[in-house]
Amino acid sequence: MNFALTEQQKETQQWAASIAKELIAPHSLKHSREKISRQLLEELSKAGLMTLTVPEKWGGLGLDFVSYALVISEISKACGSVGVTVAVTNMIAQILVREGSPYHQQEFLTRLTSGRALTASFCLTENSSGSDASALKTRAFQKPEGTYSISGEKIFVTNGAFSDFYLVMAKTSELEKAAKGVSAFLVSRDQKGVNLGREEDKMGLIGSSTIRMSFDSVVIPQKNLIASEGDGFKVALRALDGGRISVAAQAFGLSRAALEAGIRYSKEREAFGQPLSNFQAIQWKIADAATAISAAELLILRAAWLKDQNRAFTSEASIAKVFATEMAQKVCEEMLQIHGGYGYVKDYPAERYCRDVRVTTLYEGTSEIQRVVIARDLLRKSA
Ligand code: CAA
Repeated sequence: MNFALTEQQKETQQWAASIAKELIAPHSLKHSREKISRQLLEELSKAGLMTLTVPEKWGGLGLDFVSYALVISEISKACGSVGVTVAVTNMIAQILVREGSPYHQQEFLTRLTSGRALTASFCLTENSSGSDASALKTRAFQKPEGTYSISGEKIFVTNGAFSDFYLVMAKTSELEKAAKGVSAFLVSRDQKGVNLGREEDKMGLIGSSTIRMSFDSVVIPQKNLIASEGDGFKVALRALDGGRISVAAQAFGLSRAALEAGIRYSKEREAFGQPLSNFQAIQWKIADAATAISAAELLILRAAWLKDQNRAFTSEASIAKVFATEMAQKVCEEMLQIHGGYGYVKDYPAERYCRDVRVTTLYEGTSEIQRVVIARDLLRKSA
């Protein structure tokens, strides 16, 4: 067993850390109040961050998934809003590489690699279908002239306002097993009938875009269907398997940032005539945080490594997500506690980490759904 990263993975991690420091961190405070600017999105795209695992032949950086998780962690450590924006765009790029036809790759993937599209979005969730994702109501009707017409409403569309195109899950048939009637389509933003709704007024990750959308009889060519009719639910869940590793990496990055902030403050701040860091109560918080963060790191790397080996990793991705995100929430809270009252005000980043990390146990499958996935896998194996 070898726990060491390869030289290339270490170099990638250093590269990401330096981009995070120079390009992203200077904007993190601003992203507590306003959206990521188009200029920053262009710079992120130019640096190759939006298509990290896309093979070089299509203009991506061709990274393995372990390196990808390391990059997402470094970026999220600098700014959670940028972390999720980059991660969701990469998730769409990964779908196009894995499931896309040559037309999808030529027409849509190269928009991302060339920077003509800065981000892309994943439209699965609806008003009445979140965890029960296959209960979605958006419909796609096949028309005689070789097109589909899509109608329906989506919510919680990450990157929605920034994106040039959307992967939209819609029902193409009403079957008893709802999941088998779901298909996945690529829809460009400039198609007639694509309506961008309001930005959600969120607790955290304020720099990222999260909107509602409606699709009002949007006509798209038949060739914009990914895989075959009825494959859409599996396309979405396979994408979320990888996405869950990247959410774990986001939470891991934020918890590392929070720990650094807690350590820094504990050394600066004096109480009872000495730095806070001299007190065992504080040292234990730091030690517990470091222990939990290390455990999460190993779970994330294991899941990413299994994916790189083309081995089954669905359950391991859920294990990494549930542990890393719940751990990160606790670590961010404890690091805020070290700051005392200053943890509660915006002069210090501790409160931002708590707000930004909170959604990681919710999006791309709640902690409860991860536990469903883990338990089902174990119960099936023991049958
Ligand atoms: N990969 C591929 N296929 C899979 C799969 C996976 N990981 N998991 C299940 N499937 C297949 C099953 O084998 C089954 O196919 P067959 O019938 O041919 O065997 C089919 O998918 C349906 O599976 P289930 O019967 O298990 O489906 P279910 O309705 O019970 O749902 C679930 C399973 C795990 C609860 C799933 O619905 C789920 O993960 N829900 C959470 C959805 C989610 O994560 N939403 C987040 C949306 S994105 C977001 O947050 C914002 C963003 O911008 C990214």
